Amino acid sequence: MAALRLHLPDEAATARLGASLARSLAPNLDSNAPAHEHGLHIQLQGELGAGKTSLVRALLRALGVTGHIKSPTYTLVEPYAISGICLYHFDFYRFTSDQDWLEAGLREHFEGHAICLVEWPDKAGDLLPRADLVIRLGITSSGRDAILEAHSNAGAACLAAVAATVSGDSY
Ligand SMILES: Nc1ncnc2c1ncn2[C@@H]1O[C@H](COP(=O)(O)OP(=O)(O)OP(=O)(O)O)[C@@H](O)[C@H]1O
Ligand SMILES: [Mg+2]
Repeated sequence: MAALRLHLPDEAATARLGASLARSLAPNLDSNAPAHEHGLHIQLQGELGAGKTSLVRALLRALGVTGHIKSPTYTLVEPYAISGICLYHFDFYRFTSDQDWLEAGLREHFEGHAICLVEWPDKAGDLLPRADLVIRLGITSSGRDAILEAHSNAGAACLAAVAATVSGDSY
């Protein structure tokens, strides 16, 4: 499937990518449009401090979320309602067992029309469904590298919209 590689020299570049991702979701957030039919599942991979939360914060800001945006490190999930669309920001770093998953009812979040943004998806093992879009962030000596990979048609549409707003390797 399609992929896009970007260099993010500083945090402002990470923020621009977050805003670009937000715009790629915008058709789903248009209040005149029907709710996104199948939801959207975006996974964020990368080591501690790679910029996963920074990227999600920038995306949420661009969608109009104001006030403090908490990292869901301890709560596993932070919910947002934006123009009638549900968006869930997950962080599975401290996720431990299948039991937690069932008790929290988290699976349901992935079965509806919501947009799910997931940090540390690997910690949830096989419990998560396939992602539409996977974003891999890597720390480099000059900032961060980002690789975006589409794994579905919905993810490819999102990727194409992002690609249209960025140019080449350096962003
Ligand atoms: N492109 C960039 N270049 C340099 N620094 C960046 C860049 N983007 C973000 N940062 C910085 O990197 C750090 C990223 O922290 P953040 O909490 O977003 O990481 P994370 O991947 O969510 O980590 P965790 O796995 O602990 O949740 C922040 O201090 C941010 O300022
Ligand atoms: Mg984080």
